Amino acid sequence: MGRGKKVTIVGAGNVGATVAYSLAMHGSCHEVMLRDRNPEIAKGKALDMSQAANAARQHTLVSVAETASDMAGTDIFVVTAGFPRKPGMSRDDLLMINAEITKEVVTDIKEHAPDSIIIMVSNPLDVMTYVALKESGFPKERVMGMAGILDSARMAHFIYEKIRYGAGQIRASVMGGHGDDMVPLPKFSTVAGVPLTDILSEEEIIDVVERTKHGGAEIVGYLKTGSAYYAPAKSTALMVEAILKDTKQIHPCAVYLDGHYGHRDVVSGVPIALGAEGVEKVFEVTLNEGQKRKFAKSVNSVRSMINVLKKNNFFTKPDDNIITETEE
Ligand code: 2OP
Repeated sequence: MGRGKKVTIVGAGNVGATVAYSLAMHGSCHEVMLRDRNPEIAKGKALDMSQAANAARQHTLVSVAETASDMAGTDIFVVTAGFPRKPGMSRDDLLMINAEITKEVVTDIKEHAPDSIIIMVSNPLDVMTYVALKESGFPKERVMGMAGILDSARMAHFIYEKIRYGAGQIRASVMGGHGDDMVPLPKFSTVAGVPLTDILSEEEIIDVVERTKHGGAEIVGYLKTGSAYYAPAKSTALMVEAILKDTKQIHPCAVYLDGHYGHRDVVSGVPIALGAEGVEKVFEVTLNEGQKRKFAKSVNSVRSMINVLKKNNFFTKPDDNIITETEE
């Protein structure tokens, strides 16, 4: 049996539940399973979504994994489990807590669905993708993180807001980690092939870039107690569907860099071809010096968090090889 029958979402909070809802509404797969620390709430959501699918004339069954072994047979995992930052917590505190949660989740995945593909969504995204890769021991093609699609969608929205034409024809490009150092690339962004730089003024482009970089924070500022979930969930669902349908379309995703762009043993967002086997190809875009510098800065901030984990002896298979930050 090929891939594409069962998707399990670990963490049925706002992002996880909305991914499941999006998949169910499209009838993208036969079965969506939710796994959550609170199985009762997950059951309520699952039942509601299964019924919603029928209202949409789809027959995706949404169910709940009460035990880890219920996840057996899963083709694709979406991992959203993790804590948001609370007052008084440092970034490193969040890093350690979510890394521990990811390790636990991935250990279950490895045991019960060793041939699956993992899409990480928990923050800090790139680091959690690295943790999932190392702790699962899966081939690097089968572990990736969502964020480039989200960041590009945010950029496309900010472009559309300014120009109000070219609907469906905006191709915005963002590379790098999913953090303050992400690298929006106006020079690689077009509207129906027309370069963005020929459409917007320099100030307008700076505005688009800045809003894209702080797109998540802008929404947290309004929501106060949580972060965005509609766009993160839709972006994740697109990745799931690309794998299920084996589209081999090119999307920016967080993947393991093994010498790509001159960086190794780190995860960052780059364009990849996404298909039934997962990461089927990593594209190395020719960057100019300024873009390379920005990309290296973004990679370095992910690396410094990975190094915090390494120094705390977090990884099950220790790796003394702490790579110091590359020169920018
Ligand atoms: C976002 O960018 C918090 O990563 C999440 O909205």
